[in-house]
Amino acid sequence: MDFSLSEMHQEVIDLSRSFAQRMILPGIKDADRAGKFDRTIINAMADVGLLGLCFPEEYGGGGLDYISLGLACEELEYADTSARVVLSVHIGLTSLPIFTWGNTAQKEKYLPLMTSGKMIGAFGLTEPNAGSDVVGIQTTADKDSGTYVLNGEKMWISLSDAADLFLIFAWTDREKKKKRDHSGMSAFIMERSYCGVTTGDIKGKLGVRAGKTGFISMSDTRVPEENILGKPGDGFKIAMFSLDQGRYTVAAGSTGLIRACHDACVSYSNTRATFAEPIGHHQLVKEMIARMYAGYEISRNLYLKAGWMKNNGVANTRATSLAKWIACEQAEAAAADAVQVHGAYGFSDEYPVERYYRNAKGASIYEGTREIQKLIQADYSLGYRADKEDRRELPTWPFRE
Ligand code: CAA
Repeated sequence: MDFSLSEMHQEVIDLSRSFAQRMILPGIKDADRAGKFDRTIINAMADVGLLGLCFPEEYGGGGLDYISLGLACEELEYADTSARVVLSVHIGLTSLPIFTWGNTAQKEKYLPLMTSGKMIGAFGLTEPNAGSDVVGIQTTADKDSGTYVLNGEKMWISLSDAADLFLIFAWTDREKKKKRDHSGMSAFIMERSYCGVTTGDIKGKLGVRAGKTGFISMSDTRVPEENILGKPGDGFKIAMFSLDQGRYTVAAGSTGLIRACHDACVSYSNTRATFAEPIGHHQLVKEMIARMYAGYEISRNLYLKAGWMKNNGVANTRATSLAKWIACEQAEAAAADAVQVHGAYGFSDEYPVERYYRNAKGASIYEGTREIQKLIQADYSLGYRADKEDRRELPTWPFRE
């Protein structure tokens, strides 16, 4: 067993860290306060290769592994959650599913546009009345002369108003919809330019205010038949596969948020004095910092293990879900303690910890709530859930020529 990171991994850390320091940190306080999303940051991510990191060079990618994706997410979320969300949605939930489930024509058409940032992807699964309950979605796709006609509404969709391309999940079999039989769901690559597509923003979010979250509406939107991803009926499995990648990026990002809390508290505890000594000398402060460090190490090891499994084509739904659950829970705890360590200053935006606190909450809800992750873990333990032989995993790394 080798716990060391390779030279390639260190380069990804350096690249992502310097990107975050240059492009995110200087303006994040104002952007968060104003609720302002900056699209040019996504273009800049594409310019330094972050959007194509873990895709083969033939698609314009950097040819790096999936651990690199996790490391980049950790570094970006160290600066701000909104930056990491771009990689989660664009790479984890959209580009990687197209890379794994797409046919040659789909991969050749869309992946170079996505790795170069010419097209930004978003993931359209959740609806106003269906989040955890995936088969509860209402969007339909009816076949009609070489197209599928989509009708429905997606809600709480990160990047919806910025994306150019959407991975949309819809029922193609209305009888199965009535019976809640997931084999009646399909996945579609839908371009923004198709008729009947509208998107908009949701205002008033608790956190990730420098990010974009919104809705997608489809009204008699015709999607060409060739844009179905996988086969008709594969939709549910593609959704679960996509979440295996998205949750991984959330786990890695939350790990970065824990480290940000830890570092902010270490710095503050060594400068702020009470009772005639730095607050770092007080045992109750030490306890909070020790827990942050433990949370960081546990979360990091869990996501790196999931990344290793992805590189090697090992089924990792359970490992990824565990990494997501624990990292998000530890991030929430670390952020709450970070505010506490900073006292009244932590309650204001003079220090970044109040932003960490607001941002940490969302990750225990999106891409599978904390409760869904617990159910997944228990169901594996109890034998109610098992990985099937015919599952599809990410292409193994190193990529074959
Ligand atoms: N890969 C491939 N196949 C998979 C799979 C995976 N990861 N997970 C499950 N499957 C297959 C199973 O093998 C099974 O196949 P068969 O029917 O052939 O036996 C089938 O899919 C059904 O699986 P389950 O029995 O596990 O499904 P379930 O109905 O029990 O649901 C669930 C499980 C865990 C509750 C699931 O519905 C779930 O994860 N829900 C949460 C959804 C979620 O995370 N939503 C948030 C989306 S984020 C978003 O939309 C906003 C954004 O912009 C980020």
